[in-house]
Amino acid sequence: MQVYAPQEDSFLLEEEIKKENLSEKKCLDLGTGSGIQAKAMFFSNAKKVFCVDVNYKALLLTQKNLLEYKDKFVLIESDLFSSLKGEKFDFIAFNPPYLPSDEIKWKDLDGGKKGRVVINKFLEQLSDHVNPNFVVLLLVSSLNNEEEIISFLEEKKYCVEIVSSKKLFFEELFVLRITAC
Ligand SMILES: C[S@@+](CC[C@H](N)C(=O)[O-])C[C@H]1O[C@@H](n2cnc3c(N)ncnc32)[C@H](O)[C@@H]1O
Repeated sequence: MQVYAPQEDSFLLEEEIKKENLSEKKCLDLGTGSGIQAKAMFFSNAKKVFCVDVNYKALLLTQKNLLEYKDKFVLIESDLFSSLKGEKFDFIAFNPPYLPSDEIKWKDLDGGKKGRVVINKFLEQLSDHVNPNFVVLLLVSSLNNEEEIISFLEEKKYCVEIVSSKKLFFEELFVLRITAC
């Protein structure tokens, strides 16, 4: 399986992570890929980051790319939170596979129907894995219908803010900042 090379979506999320103060926060870089978002968390003073990916090769690359932080991260192979039973986080960043697709063949890109299969599973499981006063930064695309995602979150009593967006040729990217209301 290929490892996702950072793109516009990665950079948009990275910039938002760099604006957070993560000292004293327990952090999760979900779908770590190359480890770019974990690196941004260290820039924001994170003391420890859980780097999680379903793709073992991504974990190997992250380990290599984060060598300078070697005592400050753990690598976990996991399908979303499946290997993180009982773990709760103060800060989570997730740049999910969000491209609409008929099947999920490429796990770094394919998001299934409306590009929402992995996003929806993540949002369903989220409440079991956050501490009070948590912050989640989630990258979504207009291809996913960001308004529907925001309405779903608001129905679940989360507060959601679009903190950043970028228009590309065939879509617009958004970073959602999700908190407890
Ligand atoms: C769009 S890439 C983002 C990679 C990197 N975080 C970035 O911003 O460049 C999505 C990542 O999520 C991982 N992924 C896909 N489905 C996953 C799942 N169910 N659980 C954990 N990671 C998953 C992929 O392997 C891939 O590394």
